[in-house]
Amino acid sequence: MRQKLAAGNWKMNGTGSDLAELAELIQSQGTATSELMICPPATLLSRAADLAQNSALTIGAQDCHSEQAGAHTGDISAAMLKEAGATAVILGHSERRADHSESSNTVAAKTQTAWAHGLTALVCLGETLDEREAGDTLKVVGDQLAASLPEGATGANTVLAYEPVWAIGTGKIPSLAQIAEVHDFLRAELTTRFGPQMAEATRLLYGGSVKPGNAAEIFATSNVDGALVGGASLKAADFSPIIAALDAS
Ligand code: 13P
Repeated sequence: MRQKLAAGNWKMNGTGSDLAELAELIQSQGTATSELMICPPATLLSRAADLAQNSALTIGAQDCHSEQAGAHTGDISAAMLKEAGATAVILGHSERRADHSESSNTVAAKTQTAWAHGLTALVCLGETLDEREAGDTLKVVGDQLAASLPEGATGANTVLAYEPVWAIGTGKIPSLAQIAEVHDFLRAELTTRFGPQMAEATRLLYGGSVKPGNAAEIFATSNVDGALVGGASLKAADFSPIIAALDAS
């Protein structure tokens, strides 16, 4: 059985005062059966990890470099994230693919490095609106999956997040049939490439405008094992009902 996962991506939001939201989340969600994760900005990682110690909350990072170390000003290595207390790292988010021209090959290299340091790779995939309207969604997502995920992926070291670019931060979500189509496809692709055991063990998250009001229907959708939540993860009061909906699904 896959443990459901509610992961919050704070993106470039949050300073020390926002750690109060984590404390509130830990207090209010102590009995959740789903795994809870918050991915704060790198500057808050170690303080967030300290807060989350001995709680149900795990802490993830938002990116890492593909190299172990070296002359890469401004970048952060997987070893640094691990030491700061992260147990997972988001890789290949569409904002990194767009803002930093990250290719799927780069994402695969980062994934290898994250695994080498014991971090779970939370690998993101998703089509643009143009690609969806052209009928290319499964082709785009399938190509991203094939190139972003190296050999050696398991249900323990990998989580996939399907995040349609046009649904991120827009308040728009695909129809439930469209979400099911992509998630069913991803499960089938994993089965073909890695075998049924890996495919059955790997969590498939949906991301893009998940809110308290739409969470329950999304979590009832085929092959959705949880969510990667942006804006609605910043406040415990918004994230908590999403976690409750996941627990109830
Ligand atoms: P929103 O939930 O703000 O749409 O962001 C989704 C996302 O990009 C999570 O990684």
